[in-house]
Amino acid sequence: MNQKSKAANSQMIELIRTRRTIRQFDQTEIPLDDLLKCAECAGLAPSGKNLQPLKFLLVQDRKLVEAIFPLLKWAGYIQPAGNPKPGKTPTAYFVTMVDREISELLSEYNAGAAIENFILAARSLDIGTCWIASVDRDKLRRLLQIPERLHIDSIIACGYPDETPVVEKMTDDIRYWKDGSGILHVPKRSLNEILRVDRWID
Ligand SMILES: Cc1cc2nc3c(=O)[nH]c(=O)nc-3n(C[C@H](O)[C@H](O)[C@H](O)COP(=O)(O)O)c2cc1C
Repeated sequence: MNQKSKAANSQMIELIRTRRTIRQFDQTEIPLDDLLKCAECAGLAPSGKNLQPLKFLLVQDRKLVEAIFPLLKWAGYIQPAGNPKPGKTPTAYFVTMVDREISELLSEYNAGAAIENFILAARSLDIGTCWIASVDRDKLRRLLQIPERLHIDSIIACGYPDETPVVEKMTDDIRYWKDGSGILHVPKRSLNEILRVDRWID
């Protein structure tokens, strides 16, 4: 491997390591071209049997963006402190759907792979994201005129970050929390807990 690709790879690993869910957003609009790049990455994700059953909706229209916000639930462990504050709400959304007419096989895996591609591509462009499964799918379907054949998997809230959450080693509780300065702390299980090499020894 040459020096250039080594540097690119370690940058990629750093992006993955430092990615955190963002729930407070700067109101600067994201260029549509950048969102399209992320969406393209979602579309290039692996899928079972290469069936590519997913469809995607990018939402940037201001009225629609405002109408989507009340359909979402944020940061269940720290309600209401985890909600985006007024003036700090997402500026765009990315909806991932499964086209049932193509296939429902392994659809959550497929959606997960595509969404993670989207999130990491966004991170590389300094766009913050929050993966949201707690969404009122019926209302979202009506609002965005999503046909019944498309199952709504998740919606990804997007915007430039206006918070800097920190990761910390989990000791006895996986629940994320906010400190007195409003910094979000995200406990993660250690590699020692989640990984073994060659054989599983407890
Ligand atoms: C499948 C899935 C569903 C999620 N749904 C929500 C959600 O509905 N609302 C929310 O605020 N965060 C949601 N999250 C974000 C998680 O809370 C977040 O990933 C977790 O707290 C770890 O933080 P991190 O992403 O910074 O590592 C979801 C994440 C995943 C992977």
